[in-house]
Amino acid sequence: MTIYPTADARKAAAAARALQDVADGMTLGLGTGSTAAHFVRALGSRVREGLKVRCAATSEETAALALSLDIPIFELDALGTLDLTVDGADEIDPDLSLIKGGGGALLREKIVAAASRAVIIIADDKKAVETLGAFPLPVEIVPFAHRTTMQRIAEAAAMAGCAQNLVTLRGGDAHPFVTDGGHYIADCDCGRIPDPETLAAMLASIPGIVDHGLFIGLASKAYIAGEGGVTEQGQG
Ligand code: 5RP
Repeated sequence: MTIYPTADARKAAAAARALQDVADGMTLGLGTGSTAAHFVRALGSRVREGLKVRCAATSEETAALALSLDIPIFELDALGTLDLTVDGADEIDPDLSLIKGGGGALLREKIVAAASRAVIIIADDKKAVETLGAFPLPVEIVPFAHRTTMQRIAEAAAMAGCAQNLVTLRGGDAHPFVTDGGHYIADCDCGRIPDPETLAAMLASIPGIVDHGLFIGLASKAYIAGEGGVTEQGQG
């Protein structure tokens, strides 16, 4: 039976399921992207009904949306360890390893996720994959010598056994995409990433890389919505 016929309806359903895990008084991390925005809007309705939460946002875009809905936003430094973060993802594998950063917010998303006791990933079923890599891996890099850094990223992807290693500058040279932190995003089309841990370690050792979109060991569980309903992946 089809309950959620569109990807957007599935995103909203996953977000609604995650909202059930939010309790009064919690500190929350708010993710970035269209799925996370569904969660923020649903949370805003609960806040207007009286739910008390204190939140940190993973992007300026999410902060603006939350504030427009009267959700209290604080600096992460003011909240310390968060009770829960709810965020979207570009790909989710069976181990709950993720590719994130399609919206360009991966650095703040990773900082907020790492500062959270639990991280719930919400997504439509197109994001669930057996092996990461079909979605180009976003890598946040400093503008200085970015072409050199992009070459190092391509070499790392090849050495880590990825099926391919085509690296492009998001937005192109004329109008590069600039993150909230003032950095560029290099998207590495890996085709298939057979060993995400090895690639993550290699990328982390390259000067010029601020962070990368492989999120390994950060997600506690995922709510994945398909046409028939929402399923839970992993342990809370
Ligand atoms: C932003 C992200 C998003 O969570 C990811 O791109 C998924 O976005 P959407 O929910 O719009 O499909 O990592 O940096």
